[in-house]
Amino acid sequence: MQLQAVLVLGALVFQTNALPLQLTRDVLQPRDNTTNGITEALLDNFKLFANFTAASYCPSNENSTVGSLVSCAESACPLVEADIVTSVVEFGGENDTTVSDIKGYVALDPVRSLIVVAFAGSGNTIRNYLTDVTFVEIPYTDCNACWVHSGFATGWSERRSIVLAAVSTALLAYPSYSIVVTGHSIGAAVGTLAAAELRSLNHSVDTYTYGSPRVGNEAFADFVTSQTPAQGSNFRMTHVNDPVPQLPPTWIGYQHTSPEYWLSGGNATTELYGAEDVVVCEGVGNEGCNAGTGLVPIDGDAHTHYLGLIAACQGPVSL
Ligand SMILES: *[C@@H]1O[C@H](CO)[C@@H](O)[C@H](O)[C@H]1NC(C)=O
Ligand SMILES: *[C@@H]1O[C@H](CO)[C@@H](O)[C@H](O)[C@H]1NC(C)=O
Ligand SMILES: *[C@@H]1O[C@H](CO)[C@@H](O)[C@H](O)[C@H]1NC(C)=O
Ligand SMILES: *[C@@H]1O[C@H](CO)[C@@H](O)[C@H](O)[C@H]1NC(C)=O
Ligand SMILES: *[C@@H]1O[C@H](CO)[C@@H](O)[C@H](O)[C@H]1NC(C)=O
Ligand SMILES: *[C@@H]1O[C@H](CO)[C@@H](O)[C@H](O)[C@H]1NC(C)=O
Repeated sequence: MQLQAVLVLGALVFQTNALPLQLTRDVLQPRDNTTNGITEALLDNFKLFANFTAASYCPSNENSTVGSLVSCAESACPLVEADIVTSVVEFGGENDTTVSDIKGYVALDPVRSLIVVAFAGSGNTIRNYLTDVTFVEIPYTDCNACWVHSGFATGWSERRSIVLAAVSTALLAYPSYSIVVTGHSIGAAVGTLAAAELRSLNHSVDTYTYGSPRVGNEAFADFVTSQTPAQGSNFRMTHVNDPVPQLPPTWIGYQHTSPEYWLSGGNATTELYGAEDVVVCEGVGNEGCNAGTGLVPIDGDAHTHYLGLIAACQGPVSL
């Protein structure tokens, strides 16, 4: 079935589900606040954490022993390899038995004094997650009137204990290190939930996400946005007309964390962007960046090209 058709079908089911349709002020009145260009230093950080995310897709980082080097086939993560990054824990991949099959790792970067938590997109197709007509939104209890996509919540719940334990262990050994959570696609959504919980546990966390779908409702998006700047920053990157960040749609109540860093200009396969090409859109309901490009025609390439081929180790991502 075409993604478009599945979406329409899903939408019909949503409407008959119990959730009230939330036409929030952001849907009616986007709070657009758009600036052109970011610093070179921030663009470098986006490249660095795109490398960490790319490593989460590589089989070389599945089930290897504690302390082993994080490395990548396909030359997918030269910046990670240069930093002599070592694994604290790895999860998912071959032989995984979880429902959501979220793959990733927690690792130490001794050069930059970082504890990095990285999540790859699901081994299941993205389409299953974003359009599964049976999924329900579930309450998110750390903030009032919040709900999130049950598929993403399951993804995080299946990795939660292993990730929180690994971060605690790493912090005990390296109390001065900073925590960064990064991820692509479904992994970006799971990473958003991971960061929100780590912050609720009083950690300071920066997030660098690439092509994240919307994770929950406006109250949830506001909550994660409001954790910053006191407890870190959210750097949510999108690329031209990548369809995934446009899903699940706002008209069933989903919104995004703010701000958004949009790789604009070029086409779906463009990887070379300068700091001046990155447009920053603020507001959980902004339509000035990726959300304004339109979902159709579905352009899968825009989802895989994030400054490089972010899922290079996995091969083509199925939309
Ligand atoms: C837009 O964003 C800038 C930079 O964050 C901020 O200084 C300004 O107050 C914002 N303007 C509006 C209207 O929200
Ligand atoms: C998966 O299980 C097989 C059989 O036990 C084993 O040979 C293989 O190394 C496992 N894969 C990983 C990534 O551990
Ligand atoms: C991890 O690797 C070990 C051998 O090194 C193997 O016995 C075990 O089954 C693997 N676990 C998974 C989940 O693949
Ligand atoms: C986080 O810090 C606040 C304020 O210091 C405190 O009230 C709360 O108990 C702490 N929460 C956790 C989980 O440590
Ligand atoms: C897309 O842009 C790249 C440069 O960023 C260019 O090499 C390529 O030919 C373009 N592809 C199409 C289909 O226009
Ligand atoms: C990884 O870093 C290299 C070197 O800066 C960069 O060329 C590449 O695009 C990065 N990979 C991704 C997926 O962004």
